Amino acid sequence: MKLDRLVNVSDYEEAARRRLPKPIFDMVAGGAGDETSMRANRSAFDAITLRPKPFVDVTTRDTSTTILGVPTTMPIMLDPCGYQRMAHRDAELAVARAAGSQGMGYALSTVTSYAMEDVAAVSTGPKWFQLYLPPGDVSETEKLVERASAAGFDALCLTVDTTMRALRERDVRNKVKLPLRMGPAMLMSGAVRPGWAVDFLRGGVGRGNQGFAPKMLSIKAAGSKLSSTMRPVTEADLALVRKLWKGPLVVKGILRGDEVEQLIDRGVDGFVVSNHGGRQLDATPATISALPEVVEAANGRAEVFLDGGVRRGTDVVKALALGARAVLVGRPYVYGLAVGGEEGVRRVIRILRDETENAMGLLGCTTIPEITRDRVRVPA
Ligand SMILES: Cc1cc2nc3c(=O)[nH]c(=O)nc-3n(C[C@H](O)[C@H](O)[C@H](O)COP(=O)(O)O)c2cc1C
Repeated sequence: MKLDRLVNVSDYEEAARRRLPKPIFDMVAGGAGDETSMRANRSAFDAITLRPKPFVDVTTRDTSTTILGVPTTMPIMLDPCGYQRMAHRDAELAVARAAGSQGMGYALSTVTSYAMEDVAAVSTGPKWFQLYLPPGDVSETEKLVERASAAGFDALCLTVDTTMRALRERDVRNKVKLPLRMGPAMLMSGAVRPGWAVDFLRGGVGRGNQGFAPKMLSIKAAGSKLSSTMRPVTEADLALVRKLWKGPLVVKGILRGDEVEQLIDRGVDGFVVSNHGGRQLDATPATISALPEVVEAANGRAEVFLDGGVRRGTDVVKALALGARAVLVGRPYVYGLAVGGEEGVRRVIRILRDETENAMGLLGCTTIPEITRDRVRVPA
């Protein structure tokens, strides 16, 4: 694959569609139900317009900022995405290396093929550990949190919107079941994607975050952790996690402001306004529409992030103008990983950073704090 020809995130999506077996591409690209929320994430961004300010010397532009006190080269992070081994054999290791090489933050999912310690060891940028709570008694949660702390993660990110299995109809049609299994349907569709199949078969995988099975089988094993870890997060869980984790705590999957103040009082330091990329409950609002309510409720006492549908540098500046500290991207870097491994992820990151810098300059902003509310017009 000639990566030079892929100039934006949509190009990477199209290339990933051609590279991956259909069930795997659909598993990444798809959403829940009618995929209304997934589309809304995009259309709401499109409806917001930018208001450039002339007569500003934008010869130099600085995209650097801090996220929860940690310096980063850009107000963009990589979202936690499970199942990366299905896109490329180097999975989370490639993603962590690519993010680090650009000084960008990466949130590692609980559902991985490589152990969090191995990923942390190659992460040179800011790193979060995303927590799904293991079932059973709290000792498993304690172990995961202790490991994340010992491995040096900067923040813990508790995902709260996966209270139940989502209804993703592409997966039903493709007979994809989570945990992912290499059944006959998957093998057949893999056969017509030889580039992917060779990569997949050559790859070994590590132990995963909970010390699971060796080599190929750990695809299934790593996946089985997801289904077994999906359980509703209760208020008691939040209190437990807050007690166990000494660093900044982020809650991911918030779409309303009314509980934000109370959560801050209970020790939450950051929120990701997210509908899981439209992959959980369909008919939830576009995240960019929900952002202002959460920012207002946080009232400067917690950092607010946004994900869902960020595909352009112009989306990044729109979210920042509406109060986000930074944005996170999910599918775009998984497409980069599928198409070009570590180098593919690096290129997707560079595209987003370059587009952000370009949008800042044309908008008349030279630093991140200059991206203020007056730079956007939001339709009533
Ligand atoms: C393939 C895939 C796997 C995901 N796995 C996780 C996960 O393990 N934990 C989590 O909190 N979110 C997970 N998400 C959701 C993302 O973190 C993020 O909320 C979403 O992808 C953002 O939307 P975007 O893809 O439009 O950028 C996953 C998303 C995708 C596409």
